Amino acid sequence: MKRLYGVIGFPVSHSLSPLFQQAAFDSVGLDAAYVPFEIPPERLEEALEAMSLFGVQGFNVTLPHKESVYRWVSSRDPVAERAKSVNAVVLKGSSWHGTNTDVPGFRSVFDLFLKRTGKTIPENPLVFGAGGSGRSVVLALLESGVTRLTIANRSLERAEHLRGELQWIRPESVINVAGLSVLEEEDAAFDYVINTLSRNAFGEDFPPLSNINVQSVLGMMDLSYRPDGGATPFLAHGIDRGIPVEDGLPMLLEQGAMSFEVWTSRPAPRKAMSAAIEKRLGRPVLWR
Ligand SMILES: NC(=O)c1ccc[n+]([C@@H]2O[C@H](COP(=O)([O-])OP(=O)(O)OC[C@H]3O[C@@H](n4cnc5c(N)ncnc54)[C@H](OP(=O)(O)O)[C@@H]3O)[C@@H](O)[C@H]2O)c1
Repeated sequence: MKRLYGVIGFPVSHSLSPLFQQAAFDSVGLDAAYVPFEIPPERLEEALEAMSLFGVQGFNVTLPHKESVYRWVSSRDPVAERAKSVNAVVLKGSSWHGTNTDVPGFRSVFDLFLKRTGKTIPENPLVFGAGGSGRSVVLALLESGVTRLTIANRSLERAEHLRGELQWIRPESVINVAGLSVLEEEDAAFDYVINTLSRNAFGEDFPPLSNINVQSVLGMMDLSYRPDGGATPFLAHGIDRGIPVEDGLPMLLEQGAMSFEVWTSRPAPRKAMSAAIEKRLGRPVLWR
């Protein structure tokens, strides 16, 4: 019987996951289908209960359901526990197990980006955002040994809360928090700038960048990406200044590849997955 996988989110129609996950299943000859499930928050519980009924074996979770699914699953990996968020779920026996591939997915892609730009550990990164993916990024940075970083967020309270929750991971690290307009007072010489703010938080520009001194910046990474493959407003600033940039597509692929491995216990066909995206976008996706 065909095995069923999918992604739940709201909205989800823009998601590229069905494209590259289906390519992955097809390329290894697994008789499986990967489908998008657009589920509004008020119907999430119902939809999750129906997953077993419809024979779903595993699924990804995207905005805005990652925290709710974290609470819903029967068991979780340590990384999901630390991230307090689940983006990949697998059926184990008759119960659902949650994991988080955003954290290792970001870390793997960011490590390669660091290598390309000449470092192994950032010395003073700036992270825009204190939402779910801001949390994943800060967690990954602390776990990789970063000793100083700044979180800048519209809601200062949310950034302070995030610092309070993650400081224990590396108690000796200095975590600064700032609003989006007072960065200069906090620190000047950032070496990497990572954006986790919602896509199009500011429309076609990214005003907070005008508050930082980009002279010291070695690389900029955006977790968002444009469905047409073009530069995000955040990355356009870096491109204009000749700074190396990376968008969210390599991370999207890597978290997806890691999800595939959780579901199938076999190595993900990463080349087939990126080829599917590259064919759709008509440009290379820097990945591995
Ligand atoms: N490439 C990947 O694999 C990958 C993985 C995960 C997420 N992402 C992307 O990352 C982005 C954020 O996702 P998330 O899960 O972190 O979302 P989230 O939990 O909803 O957090 C949203 C963040 O954006 C800020 N924000 C929203 N609207 C804003 C506005 N108008 N002005 C200023 N700040 C604003 C929020 O600030 P406040 O706290 O002040 O509200 C918060 O920091 C999404 O675009 C998502 O697609 C990509």
